[in-house]
Amino acid sequence: MRPRHDRSRYFAQKVEETLTGRMCRVFCSIFLSLLLIAAVILFILWLSLRPHRPRFHVTAFSVSPGPSQETANQSSVDITFEVTLRNPNANIGIFYEDAMRGSFFHRDRRIGDTAELLPPFYQGPKNTTIIHGAFPGSPALAVGGDVWQQMKAEAASHGQVWFRLELVVTIRFRVSTWDTHRHSMHADCDVGVAPDGSMLDETKARRCSLYFS
Ligand SMILES: *[C@@H]1O[C@H](CO)[C@@H](O)[C@H](O)[C@H]1NC(C)=O
Ligand SMILES: *[C@@H]1O[C@H](CO)[C@@H](O)[C@H](O)[C@H]1NC(C)=O
Repeated sequence: MRPRHDRSRYFAQKVEETLTGRMCRVFCSIFLSLLLIAAVILFILWLSLRPHRPRFHVTAFSVSPGPSQETANQSSVDITFEVTLRNPNANIGIFYEDAMRGSFFHRDRRIGDTAELLPPFYQGPKNTTIIHGAFPGSPALAVGGDVWQQMKAEAASHGQVWFRLELVVTIRFRVSTWDTHRHSMHADCDVGVAPDGSMLDETKARRCSLYFS
């Protein structure tokens, strides 16, 4: 049989151990709960502050003369267009850091480039800015030229001619005072015209696709 004081020391030690163990468990669970709450708050913040990309829609587009029209007095095709650019974010501004430029393609063949479409600017939350563009006759769009003949053939066989307008600009998001990195953004807009050169209605419903490089 153990001496009495040994036994009491043994019990005191045991009580201490279970006390530390319990304290540790309480602290651990408090710590884990705090960690979980912080994660949930961060997730909600991220959801509400996450930048949405700008949205481009082509709202007007015309080709003059249209591929089915006779042209005695014009040597090359003029294109005019209007694109809306919307910042859909409620709290995030977008900087367009360089001048926006555009290029036209017909069946992946580059027809030419537009002049500067927009100067660098800051677009506030929920703002919609309208881009007016004109693309007056490039050599590649000479009436009677290669592309013109292709357009005429397409208009005759399909009743429509499709182009692609590509817009390129460098953007940066601003969330309160924090700025994101710069991204080079490309908007690809498919636009179709009827044989008379007027925009097809189905084009208006299309949102331009975006990619970053
Ligand atoms: C070409 O001629 C048509 C018909 O005469 C006229 O309506 C049009 O404005 C002329 N276009 C140009 C660019 O002179
Ligand atoms: C959108 O932003 C542009 C550029 O800052 C500004 O000129 C235009 O007035 C704004 N549009 C609206 C509807 O606030």
